[in-house]
Amino acid sequence: MNQSNQSTQTYVLGSSSEETQRLQKQAQMYLPITQRFLQEAGITAGMKVLEVGSGAGDISLLVAELVGPSGTVVGVDRNPEILETARARMQAAGHTNVSFIVEDITNLTLDTDFDAVVGRFILGHLFSDPVVALRNLVRHLRPGGIVAFQEADLTHLGTSFPPSPLFEQAGSWIREGARRAGLDYQLGFRLYSVFLDAGLPEPQMSYTSPIGGGSDWVGYDVMAELVRSMLPEILKFHVATAEEIDIDTLAQRLRDSMANRRGVARWLDVVSAWTRTT
Ligand SMILES: C[S@@+](CC[C@H](N)C(=O)[O-])C[C@H]1O[C@@H](n2cnc3c(N)ncnc32)[C@H](O)[C@@H]1O
Repeated sequence: MNQSNQSTQTYVLGSSSEETQRLQKQAQMYLPITQRFLQEAGITAGMKVLEVGSGAGDISLLVAELVGPSGTVVGVDRNPEILETARARMQAAGHTNVSFIVEDITNLTLDTDFDAVVGRFILGHLFSDPVVALRNLVRHLRPGGIVAFQEADLTHLGTSFPPSPLFEQAGSWIREGARRAGLDYQLGFRLYSVFLDAGLPEPQMSYTSPIGGGSDWVGYDVMAELVRSMLPEILKFHVATAEEIDIDTLAQRLRDSMANRRGVARWLDVVSAWTRTT
């Protein structure tokens, strides 16, 4: 992170109910990508899995399916309200082996016999060195435990075909807001060196992004809602004005800019990295 921003240690996306809903919509777009990633990383029946930055519980739901009734999942998030949503969703899905803890993951001291630690879009949100955070998280693993993270790369956010100036603009608002708030918007690709610096074996990696078009694609709403969640940073750092953004009409304008031209747009690129401790 940018050391000069140490004083602004608030989570940039906030804790509104709109953000909680956005995460669940976004999770639909990543569902097959994250499911495949967890399987490739080796999450399987009977495992005890720690999920950090668990948000509304979307990854815990996937992990719970993979570990089955003989496994357990512990999710950690520092936002108590979002964990209420996560708990309700687990109950609705009938998973009794998933629990959630309200805690800052940079101060975590739990059992040390987990089979895996997993997380998505979390290391990039920590206002501390991700290497230090990862080292601390890995301490919770048994020898041979799995370390598996998915992080975003925002470099190409806003790419569409045919190119839509509005998509590009919205992508740059998000990227610049994140960058100026001190977040590492390219952490996805840096995961490789972060794993090595944390003393882990070389990770296996993959790179993919959801893509969509037409008038029903959920991506327009997810993008507009991410701009909404980041509006305080975007305005504070003069990335764009409220008039330019016109947040309440943004989703519809994004939708029109694609659907009217039979275009497709791409949502956040995600880099997956996984390895096992020695
Ligand atoms: C971008 S969301 C991702 C949620 C979920 N992993 C997903 O992919 O849908 C990041 C989550 O991490 C949580 N978070 C951010 N910093 C944290 C910290 N230091 N300790 C614990 N949770 C944190 C936020 O409250 C939020 O729920």
